[in-house]
Amino acid sequence: MKYWAEIDINKIPDIKITPPGPKSKQFHERASKYMKGYSSQVKLFPVVFEKGYGYTLKDVDGNTYIDFSSGIYVSSLGHCHPKVSEAICKYAKTLMNCHDFTTPIKTLLLEKLASITPGDLNGIQLYDSGTTAVEAGLRAARMVTGKLEFISFHRDFHGKTLGAISLARIDKSSGLRASGFFLVPRSYCYRCVFKMEYPSCNLYCVDYIEEVIKEETTGQVAAIVLEPIQGWAGSIIPPDGWIQKIRKLCDKYGILLFADEVLTCMGRTGKMFAMEHYNTIPDIVTLGKSFGNGFPVTAMIISEKYKDVLGQISASTSYGGNPMACAAALASIEVIEEENLCENAKEIGEYMFEILKQIKERHKIVGDVRCIGCLGGIELVKDRNTKEPFLEAGILIYQKAFKKGLAWVPAGHILRLAPPIIITKEVAKKALSIIEEAIYETEKEFGY
Ligand SMILES: Cc1ncc(COP(=O)(O)O)c(C=O)c1O
Repeated sequence: MKYWAEIDINKIPDIKITPPGPKSKQFHERASKYMKGYSSQVKLFPVVFEKGYGYTLKDVDGNTYIDFSSGIYVSSLGHCHPKVSEAICKYAKTLMNCHDFTTPIKTLLLEKLASITPGDLNGIQLYDSGTTAVEAGLRAARMVTGKLEFISFHRDFHGKTLGAISLARIDKSSGLRASGFFLVPRSYCYRCVFKMEYPSCNLYCVDYIEEVIKEETTGQVAAIVLEPIQGWAGSIIPPDGWIQKIRKLCDKYGILLFADEVLTCMGRTGKMFAMEHYNTIPDIVTLGKSFGNGFPVTAMIISEKYKDVLGQISASTSYGGNPMACAAALASIEVIEEENLCENAKEIGEYMFEILKQIKERHKIVGDVRCIGCLGGIELVKDRNTKEPFLEAGILIYQKAFKKGLAWVPAGHILRLAPPIIITKEVAKKALSIIEEAIYETEKEFGY
């Protein structure tokens, strides 16, 4: 029996007091005296949670929500999976941290991880945040190739340290991009910057990268860094062939392919790793978020042929791969396998995509929908012809659905869907009907 089987589907969501309720407000106000750096998710809906169980979350006012964000793509196996919680508790009582010394549990995790990563990806270094793993990947790429430059993509997200920021969109808060980092348009077919159409475009966006290599870089590109499927940008799935063509380009120029799977790994997209959808093996991959199902554990993994560089890039950190982290990650992988959760995510994704297409039919402000596994997006537009992003609607729909009991992720005019991969069709359907209700009410408010 699944650990969450005792959740009564008829009783979720259960909103007793309009959220954010009085206790939420009080706690949040007290915390906000000291802390200001909230995500837009919290700024737009400052509810205060105190419990998580399976695909549900409970706030301090006694409201129960369906979790459709997995705590920002993290708790993919649901909150507090007993096997993962017990694994963490065991090491919380015996050995919490011992720098980067080998421990038996770390050895077991490394062996397991190497057995499930595609191809020869088995040079592994463990970290405690996605960003740190990405930074290590950049250093490793430089060390392997002896080259210094990087190419990445518009609207990809890789973290918030200087190197990671330099791979993505910059603004006033980030300051200038470090030198040697070049950005190119992404294969965002719904809004192709080249105004072309797939497949007749022959993936011109990849040909364009070659132009950038020739015209803008010194020709010393260490790696092309990409999210196989964009998360933060709004669950944007590349057309088939895009990643494969980039792999060829990398091989032509002796550039490493670095797949940042911090968000897409561990079954989220219906396969253990999203790159598997494209039958492409990167040279470097980063894992995070769902990797420890809530415990901070991440990894930078490099191809067997390059793994000696891990000994040359000062790779260790204070907490990376501590025994609790290793136990959480190992237990999480075992759960995915034992409960056949990649398959579940795949089926849920297909099911949700069918419903999303119907939602698009029924609502003019829905310009595009997409879904792969438990990673979906609803793109809102003011007009289907102009495709003008409908940011105001995105905010309103997010807040309305949250009030009705759906804990989820906003992304401006793109509504992001990221339920735990344990979710059932029944619960997914319920969540999508809450979203549709919120879309309907918002359309009416804006006079559509
Ligand atoms: C693709 C990707 N890479 C890296 C990161 C950074 O991970 P962390 O927040 O754990 O530092 C994120 C976080 O959202 C991400 O989505």
